[in-house]
Amino acid sequence: MLNKLLFHRFPNVKSWLTRLQYEFISALNLKKEVLFMNFGYTAHHEGAEPLKLDPENEKHRYSLQLYHHVAKSVDWSGCDALEVSSGRGGGAHFIMNYFKPKSYTGVDFSARAIEFCQSHYKVDGLKFRHGNAEALTFPDNSFDVVVNVEASLYYPNITKFFEHVKRVLKPNGYFLYTDLRYTEKVDLWHAQLKSMGLKLIKEEDITDNVLKAMELDRERRMQLVDKFVPAILRKQFYHFAGLSPDSPNATPHLDNRRYWYFVLQKEG
Ligand SMILES: C[S@@+](CC[C@H](N)C(=O)[O-])C[C@H]1O[C@@H](n2cnc3c(N)ncnc32)[C@H](O)[C@@H]1O
Repeated sequence: MLNKLLFHRFPNVKSWLTRLQYEFISALNLKKEVLFMNFGYTAHHEGAEPLKLDPENEKHRYSLQLYHHVAKSVDWSGCDALEVSSGRGGGAHFIMNYFKPKSYTGVDFSARAIEFCQSHYKVDGLKFRHGNAEALTFPDNSFDVVVNVEASLYYPNITKFFEHVKRVLKPNGYFLYTDLRYTEKVDLWHAQLKSMGLKLIKEEDITDNVLKAMELDRERRMQLVDKFVPAILRKQFYHFAGLSPDSPNATPHLDNRRYWYFVLQKEG
């Protein structure tokens, strides 16, 4: 309830609290156990083949599958890509290794997350920089692909972010975008996205796939919160991890929010 009030009525306060929360997360000694901060995705229950993963990536399966689902719609060869709000860099590293773009730059406003990524990932062409989604400093027409995963809900001014995405994309470049919104805000969000002046190639409600992934990953998430977060803050972090604060064993839910995936293209 408080979260919802903050989101709707005081977006700047929410953004500031978010920044504190993510700096706090990065200050915990999470090492390699937490490389993703999204709710994940699965389509196995619909008969899809599970993504083939190395054993060390198995624990990140659902978050990796979200990135895979987001990224698989375009041809990455020779691309210069930007990810806005790359968090702890697991998705950036996965896309770089799996889809092999020419370069991939991750940007996040958590200075600690960027420091972690810069010291943790050593792959040619993969870079991380501190920055704000609403004030990107890259030149016009500089990227073939812009990626954004489960982060724009925290931006106080989504229109500014969309303007920057359009500005930094090269003609014919793609915007691969996924996020969630309270049900009553979904129409407004879609309208804002459609008015950004990019061609809509694909839109998909993936709420059921995300909920199924949350259910399959519930135990691991609960254990991570119990392991890393001090008892006094656990309820808040169960909520953050998509679990019910008072009964984290219960079936996860999205708080009456819908999760969508979009592919948009800047016309040449
Ligand atoms: C839920 S996490 C998702 C991280 C990553 N995309 C993933 O899936 O693991 C949201 C991220 O958005 C970042 N963030 C929030 N507001 C931002 C802003 N205005 N500019 C850049 N990053 C922001 C946070 O620091 C955090 O890393």
